[in-house]
Amino acid sequence: MKPLFSILISLVFGLVIYSCKETANPTVVENLETSEDIRELYRPRFHFTPKANWMNDPNGMVYYNGQYHLFYQYYPDSTVWGPMHWGHARSKDLLHWEHRPIALYPDELGYIFSGSAVIDKENTAGFGKNAMIAIYTYHDPELEKEGSILFQTQGIAYSNDEGETWTKYKGNPVIPNPGVRDFRDPKVFWNQDKQKWQMVLVAKDHVQIYESEDLKAWHKLSDFRFEDKEKLGVWECPDLFKLPVENGEEEKWVLIISHGDGAPNGGSGTRYFIGDYDGTLFTTDQSESLWLDWGTDNYAGVTWNNEPNNRRIFIGWMSNWDYATSTPTEQWRSAMTLPRELSLHKNAGGYYLKNNAIPEFTDISSTPQKIAFDNENQITIKRTDLQQSSLRFNAELNSELQIILANKSGEKFVVMYNPETGIFSADRTKSGETGFNQKFINSSQQNIQIGKRDQLDFRLILDSCSIEIFINEGEFVLTNQIFPKEEYTELKIIPGKNSTINNLEIRSIKSVI
Ligand code: FRU
Repeated sequence: MKPLFSILISLVFGLVIYSCKETANPTVVENLETSEDIRELYRPRFHFTPKANWMNDPNGMVYYNGQYHLFYQYYPDSTVWGPMHWGHARSKDLLHWEHRPIALYPDELGYIFSGSAVIDKENTAGFGKNAMIAIYTYHDPELEKEGSILFQTQGIAYSNDEGETWTKYKGNPVIPNPGVRDFRDPKVFWNQDKQKWQMVLVAKDHVQIYESEDLKAWHKLSDFRFEDKEKLGVWECPDLFKLPVENGEEEKWVLIISHGDGAPNGGSGTRYFIGDYDGTLFTTDQSESLWLDWGTDNYAGVTWNNEPNNRRIFIGWMSNWDYATSTPTEQWRSAMTLPRELSLHKNAGGYYLKNNAIPEFTDISSTPQKIAFDNENQITIKRTDLQQSSLRFNAELNSELQIILANKSGEKFVVMYNPETGIFSADRTKSGETGFNQKFINSSQQNIQIGKRDQLDFRLILDSCSIEIFINEGEFVLTNQIFPKEEYTELKIIPGKNSTINNLEIRSIKSVI
């Protein structure tokens, strides 16, 4: 009876919320308590998910007054995409999330698509000192239906109570459509060098950079285009920031872009450019695509503004537009990746970005069980908490390495690395439920060229419906959704002939829901 009762209550509240949606500053009452009904089979234990219904991109990530705010593309009425709202959660440590009332509702200008948020410390916009200001895309479904291409514009809204309640700016849209279909996803940041607000946003197949003094009046500075050898889908969700190159004096700028299609393993994925930015124009010498994640399920990710320790923390939507709406979850759909710290490095091949699980992650990890690996042919570890664990080791490799995660029904996820070809592969073909979408099956065998290495560091982080593989602390990352019908309880590591596994350890991860 209890779950039924709470569904009824949420329905009633849902209706109340929906009917308030067009007021400037809706008061929303929600049952925000964690209840048993959120614990269905694939519900992650330590990745962010909405309490119920559909979620896609992370939005408006900003730190303020002790809290990391995470807004997200949200449709509160269904587990598939629909009229977009901004959901809201906040966290003191990026791991334990508190669900907050819906922040932004669609209005007469359209649905609320992806965007960013800043803290207006000096009251440049006149909405109050330290106002939290969201800059987002309006998507007008009516205009789209009429066949116009001008259906996306940029709007702003402000909150004077740390993101709890919001008022839309009366002068919206602040950037009208310049005649481009797919004109969206503004990421605003304070450019310290120029002492100006700046914005990157996408215009179909390139990035545009804008500038403002007050977040209301914007003028365009430049375009960034790239001649792609491969065919990639629409440009989405850009981000631009400066990072120091590790072990050096140098600083470079990083431009992150997501593509709706054409990622290395099919469907949507996120890549980056490393270059220079003079406050007006971004340029790069890069000739190839560099992917932030080589798996299938890390999309539309961007970074937090105002991170208090000056770190670049990234979070992505752990799904893929190829099959996002058909994954086998019931009450909710889609999780975020683990928050990851970005760092910049340089080797003989040029600059590259690492993305690794944030160090705070060890706070929810148990002390490691260290396992000696004395040159045996293979090791098998059986644990009931495997599907909520993190595994780490260094390998000295002379032949093919295999890592197999399996459950009692014989479902398995297989990882391989061949030092002779330099190919790393992950295979979720038999990992569990796959038949819900042919494109999920098609992208299940993933091969990437990481180069011929004789030493590699591996970290695998497993949650109820995901595996995140970090090679060399994030030099290569593969994020995959998986849906085993029962939990994996067995792990086999087969290092291959004349290879050694060192510092093998496994930690169980605490649940944060
Ligand atoms: C990326 C995206 C964005 C858009 C949003 C709509 O996944 O397509 O470009 O703003 O999702 O939900």
